[in-house]
Amino acid sequence: MSNSRNRPPVGIIGGTGLTTLSGLEIMAERPVVTPWGQPSSDLIEGCLGDQAVMFLSRHGNPHRIPPHQVNYRANIQALHDAGVRTIVGVNAVGGIHADMGPAHIVIPDQIIDYTWGRASTFFEGELDETTHIDFTWPYTEEARELLISAARDQKLAFSDFGVYGATQGPRLETAAEVLRLERDGCDLVGMTGMPEAALAAELKMNYVCLALVVNRAAGKSDHIITMAEIEAAIDQGMSGVKRILEASISG
Ligand code: HPA
Repeated sequence: MSNSRNRPPVGIIGGTGLTTLSGLEIMAERPVVTPWGQPSSDLIEGCLGDQAVMFLSRHGNPHRIPPHQVNYRANIQALHDAGVRTIVGVNAVGGIHADMGPAHIVIPDQIIDYTWGRASTFFEGELDETTHIDFTWPYTEEARELLISAARDQKLAFSDFGVYGATQGPRLETAAEVLRLERDGCDLVGMTGMPEAALAAELKMNYVCLALVVNRAAGKSDHIITMAEIEAAIDQGMSGVKRILEASISG
């Protein structure tokens, strides 16, 4: 993620509220097929500054694929096969931690996975051996540091830590489920953080999450969660996410 023509392209997986990246100078847009099927969108090949970037829209463009139906394996494989070695996953999340309210940006450092029934590994079918990847630190620290220093330089309100609780969706949680997540140590709740991070690790890619809080998690405010609230937080916070991406990737 630094300023060099010789470095491999950086992958960006855009989530809710980030189906396109305006600062990206687009050079090509191509449909891709992988052994796991089709990724969520065409791969957009472009440049941020002089750093090559491959952009993929997690929910499709326009936004139409729900979190439990995203083909995470195809998305990660497509980026891998395009030469990407570092992926920034952008995720809209609910905030559980008191300091993580709407429009707050978080660069989390841990994950608890509550998803189920998703195709969550490349290691299945006819295998020669069993593989258990180490996943102690699910996010690549060096990439986290780059995002953190960009957020600091941009003087944005952000947190450089956080446990991301990945839920199945597509419904939002009950208040009791959020209390359980909180007791477990989760600071954030989202539906798309897993298995994306683990699949990247299986292919030995660097992976980091750039999360935008778009609502207080269920039961953490005095009102129910509305799409209007989520859209307002996206409008307010996504420009900061883009600034971090541009500053950390284009150098
Ligand atoms: N829960 C789960 N996923 C989410 C939320 C939430 O409150 N907000 C945005 N994605």
